[in-house]
Amino acid sequence: MKRSIQSGAMLSYQHSYHAGNHADLLKHIILGDVVAGMFNKEKPMFMLDAFASRGIYALDSEQALKNREFESGIGKLWELRNHASPQGVARWFKLIAAENPEGGFNRFPGSTALLHHMAREGDRLTACDLHPQEFDKLRGSFQANRRFSLLKRDAFEALKALLPPKEKRGLIFLDPSYEVKEEYRSIAKAVIEAHRRFATGVYVIWYPLLPAQRHLDLFRALKSSGMRKILRIELDCGDCFPEMQMYGSGMLIVNPPWHAEKPMQDSLDWICEHLTAGRGTKQYGWLVPE
Ligand SMILES: C[S@@+](CC[C@H](N)C(=O)[O-])C[C@H]1O[C@@H](n2cnc3c(N)ncnc32)[C@H](O)[C@@H]1O
Repeated sequence: MKRSIQSGAMLSYQHSYHAGNHADLLKHIILGDVVAGMFNKEKPMFMLDAFASRGIYALDSEQALKNREFESGIGKLWELRNHASPQGVARWFKLIAAENPEGGFNRFPGSTALLHHMAREGDRLTACDLHPQEFDKLRGSFQANRRFSLLKRDAFEALKALLPPKEKRGLIFLDPSYEVKEEYRSIAKAVIEAHRRFATGVYVIWYPLLPAQRHLDLFRALKSSGMRKILRIELDCGDCFPEMQMYGSGMLIVNPPWHAEKPMQDSLDWICEHLTAGRGTKQYGWLVPE
């Protein structure tokens, strides 16, 4: 039953409609900071992009142009790319520029492109998406190899099958579409189970801020699980984007690398200042401390 609910959500959601919006900025910049913080140790690591989508989004596609969400995200910040910015923001601008050698930001890199770009020689990356169209695009954009797997596989199954990784160091990125309200609890349950098998993994969970406040279900489930060291990073854009139901977004990071803490705070401050011109509010602190 649970499987069919998840599949129903998966089939009706396409990230191309939202690519490059305010939530993608927070998501990709903070994810990059976490990965960079983990690179402080030289040991190879495993990265799982459990809800990958297509990896690269065309912002001139019919979907992206429908609501033009990218205009109030990357469209708003792009002119700042040559200004001084925190390292996570600068890394992200550089990645977008590398995807668009002819200039601009039309080819917008998603989470898989970011992780693929950052992976070091000994690291392994697996990206999963169950949507047939998204998966075909993903496979068309990247060359899989021994260290980089692309799987048309259910994220919840992948978590069970692929953890713990043989490297004993791992980053698990969970970016579901939350098309059904049960998904907030399903994600919490999946993380709690995965954490039992791989307690030292770094789990990064993205969530939207919507009027229904369903992300509180995710918080409640994780808080009551007994898991420790869960950092909460949130940007509430206030009334900046009245056309969007989603007024902000957040990330929960289980076992955040210590070296990422200052970069993540700097990124959050910069995004809040430049994206919301001081009208937004931000949260940076422990949902559950050590
Ligand atoms: C929000 S999008 C991911 C965006 C992507 N992480 C990025 O930052 O570029 C969510 C994706 O999860 C996929 N999806 C939804 N349910 C899934 C499931 N149970 N297993 C695998 N993929 C799923 C959807 O097809 C969709 O492409």
